[in-house]
Amino acid sequence: NRVVLAYSGGLDTSVILKWLQTEYQCEVVTFTADLGQGEELEPARKKAELMGVKPEHIFIDDLREEFVKDYVFPMMRANALYEGLYLLGTSIARPLIAKRQIEIAKMVGADAVSHGATGKGNDQVRFELGYYALQPDIKVIAPWREWDLTSRTALIDFAEKNQIPVPKDKRGESPFSTDANLLHTSSEGKVLEDPWEEVPDYVFSRTVNPEDAPDQPEIITVDFEGGDAVAINGEGLSPATLLAKLNDLGRTHGIGRLDLVENRFVGMKSRGMYETPGGTILHAAHRAIEQVTLDRGAAHLKDELMPRYAELLYNGFWFSPEREMLQAAIDHSQTKVTGTVRLKLYKGGVHVIGRKSPYSLYSEKVVTFEDDQGAYDQRDAAGFIKLNALRLRLLGRRDR
Ligand code: ARG
Ligand code: SIN
Repeated sequence: NRVVLAYSGGLDTSVILKWLQTEYQCEVVTFTADLGQGEELEPARKKAELMGVKPEHIFIDDLREEFVKDYVFPMMRANALYEGLYLLGTSIARPLIAKRQIEIAKMVGADAVSHGATGKGNDQVRFELGYYALQPDIKVIAPWREWDLTSRTALIDFAEKNQIPVPKDKRGESPFSTDANLLHTSSEGKVLEDPWEEVPDYVFSRTVNPEDAPDQPEIITVDFEGGDAVAINGEGLSPATLLAKLNDLGRTHGIGRLDLVENRFVGMKSRGMYETPGGTILHAAHRAIEQVTLDRGAAHLKDELMPRYAELLYNGFWFSPEREMLQAAIDHSQTKVTGTVRLKLYKGGVHVIGRKSPYSLYSEKVVTFEDDQGAYDQRDAAGFIKLNALRLRLLGRRDR
């Protein structure tokens, strides 16, 4: 029996590793993904080795470019926001982790996979829908739903009994739970559980407080090609380096903080704090380039589909026919979403100050209030309005 564990190297998944070895008597294969969470990953290898995982069964993969190119960018093309605000930074990472975990399971001949998400949240659903979609017969082990380590103290006791190093700051109550990648950091639990209490300063890790951000605004340009960002200030960058660069800019100017009470798929409300610095800039820039390059019909249909698309991602249905159908429609709309957006970053705000495109549908000649030299005949509007008014007039005659 072999199981592939999504292993961060942290305390919780280290306890899971040991628990799988002792409770399930199975051989554990660890998989640690670099999604740009900004942590050293080599310590995870050391820890896995110490717990008896064979060197050839320790997988540490740099997935940053794939993450941004094949997951974050397609989602950005949709302008996806869950419940109007959440940029889905955790949701979008789970399908990629699940996909790689299944690939590794096939490579090493494992019949099971395991993860460290609790039984109360969205992540268990996202991981497992991914596993089952890609390997229908896979066995899933979700320790949080099974074991009796129901308190922090029980977890730490188990760790100490099994020679798992417990970091000093984890000995007491851990202050809150976090999830981080190139797109965002999310924090939930503990000090954040009262939605009336303001998020304390120490929860924020990747943006300066907007109140302390520079008094000088910074102006940048973002170039798009076919709906994807390709350059900042004229410098061409790969997807992951581009997002990292926007993260730096966002950090400096305190951009992308969000305090949200959201509806989890399992039915409960939860309060979270998100920092999505680069993603917030990208979202604003993408909407701005669509303003000049998308036709109204396409743009409005896209906006109607967006909440459906966002909900699918949030609920973990990345690998579903309906997500793929929506993606095809969204991607089709993006072929001419090409051009440049100019933005001003200032004390927590991203402000679009200019946009241009070789495929712009904006016609100054048509829209101008000055002499348009026959580009638009104002007399046409009379009939346009008259016919649109017809049913209102019939109703008015009857009812008023
Ligand atoms: N609520 C967010 C989501 O469902 C984040 C979940 C994981 N975050 C965490 N701090 N454990 O996408
Ligand atoms: C978890 O339950 O592990 C984190 C929260 C979530 O997935 O919604």
